[in-house]
Amino acid sequence: MDILKTIAEYGVLPVLGLKHPETAPMTAAALRRGGLPLLEVTMRAPQAMDCLRSIKYDCPEMLVGAGTILSEEQACEAADAGADFIVTPGFNRKVVSRCIELGMPVVPGCVTPTEIEAGIELGLSTFKFFPSEALGGMETISQLCGPYKGIRFIPTSGIKLTNMESYLSSGCVAAVGGSFMAPAAMVEACCWDGITALCRQAVERSLGFSLAHIGINGSSREEGLATARWFAERFGFPVREGDRSNFAGTVVEACNEKFPGTFGHIAIGTLSVTRAAAYLMAKGIPLCDETATLSPEGEILALYLREEIGGFAVHIVKR
Ligand code: 3PG
Repeated sequence: MDILKTIAEYGVLPVLGLKHPETAPMTAAALRRGGLPLLEVTMRAPQAMDCLRSIKYDCPEMLVGAGTILSEEQACEAADAGADFIVTPGFNRKVVSRCIELGMPVVPGCVTPTEIEAGIELGLSTFKFFPSEALGGMETISQLCGPYKGIRFIPTSGIKLTNMESYLSSGCVAAVGGSFMAPAAMVEACCWDGITALCRQAVERSLGFSLAHIGINGSSREEGLATARWFAERFGFPVREGDRSNFAGTVVEACNEKFPGTFGHIAIGTLSVTRAAAYLMAKGIPLCDETATLSPEGEILALYLREEIGGFAVHIVKR
């Protein structure tokens, strides 16, 4: 399994400072029920490593990272405890090199060009961005991604349900991390249903599904344009002509030919087609991989589901 790819497919990484090995598996189970079968346990409490160990023992399928790793010894201890990946708050060359030797995926905190270049030199492309909000959040991340193509960040600290969308709509962000879906007070109070509910909200927001447009099939350019103008005349939507279809505002795509679907298609917008595709596939919903359209950078912009509903094909599109 490509651990970092899987983290990016979830897009949300719970980062928890667990203290009690006896309840740690219950916390993990609450996250998993909420759609997030992954977490990073920060090594800030004396029993944090035991918490990680007990989660891996009780829920081996859970993807568990060891965070706040500050030394090579701690990295080795985490590997022995069953950690699937290592997260470090800063860039420590010795720790990162040891993780690479161990074949252990590692996400070091790199927040300056110098640190990023040091990470790239060691073959890494995913970095922690910590403490995110204090360091300028998305604005700083976007600037840092300018010179370095192909790198992505996992920002943590200060991420909440209310600001996660601004991060997750960027291709520079692999996932957001934080404790907002399992706040320490809820973990201490064993409020498992509350944690599950917060995780569900986080998953929902990370996908950001909403109606993008309705596509209406046509059989000629004249027909496609006439359909787009029908909407323009009634609702004032501006017509944008294209080669294969014409848009009336953003709501109707009037096609000049038969697109997938008996009558047309329904486009569901999402913050990330890649994340949405992974989510749908995990639910057993088949997708038509051959319909994927890509940006010049290789990001998937649109993808059809295999099923039709009510005579309409359905595709997911990047919002
Ligand atoms: C971390 O260690 O990455 C952060 O402390 C998590 O930050 P948060 O509690 O603000 O989400």
